[in-house]
Amino acid sequence: MPTPLDSYRRLRRTARFAPRFYEHLLASDVRIKRLFANTNFERQNALFEHGVHVLLEYAAGSAIGEMAVRRLGQRHTRSDLNVDPALYSIWIDCLIATAAELDPKWNPTLERRFRADIQKGIDEMTRAYNEDVPK
Ligand code: HEM
Repeated sequence: MPTPLDSYRRLRRTARFAPRFYEHLLASDVRIKRLFANTNFERQNALFEHGVHVLLEYAAGSAIGEMAVRRLGQRHTRSDLNVDPALYSIWIDCLIATAAELDPKWNPTLERRFRADIQKGIDEMTRAYNEDVPK
C-alpha cells in the first residue's frame, strides 16, 4: 500500500507542487493573502516542500521529524510569525486539493492517511501556539 511519503515524493517530482499549493492558499482567504504580501516565493516554495516532508516524517515516527515540527511550531507562534491555528485547516485543505490534482496515484484511502498524518504535526504546532505566552 503506497504511503503518504511515497505520494510526497511523486508530488515533489512534478515541480508544480508548491506553486499550485500557493495558488490555492492565496485564493482561499484574504487574511492569508495579507500574511504573504512580502514573501519571496522562490524561497518559500522550497520551505513549503520541506515543511510537508517534516510533518509526514513526524507522523511516521521520526525523531528528527519531531524536532523539526517543534521548531516549525515555534516559528508560527504569537511571538514569531503569529499564524492563527484557525488557519491550519484551510492550509490542510489546500494541500489535499493540490495533492489530489497532481498525484496520479491519489485515491480515497491515500487521502485519508495523508490527512491523518499531516494532522498529527498540525496538532503539535497548535499545542506550541497555545502554550506560547508572549513576554
Ligand atoms: C501547518 C503547516 C505549516 C507548515 C508545515 C508551514 C511551513 C512553513 C515554513 C517551513 C516556513 C518558513 C519558516 C522560516 O522562514 O524559518 C513558513 C513560513 C511562513 N508560514 Fe507557514 N507553515 C504552515 C502553516 C502555515 C499557515 C496555516 C499559514 C497561514 C495561513 C502560514 C504562514 C506562513 C508565513 C506568513 C510564513 C512567512 C513567510 C515569509 O517569510 O514571508 N504557515 N511556514
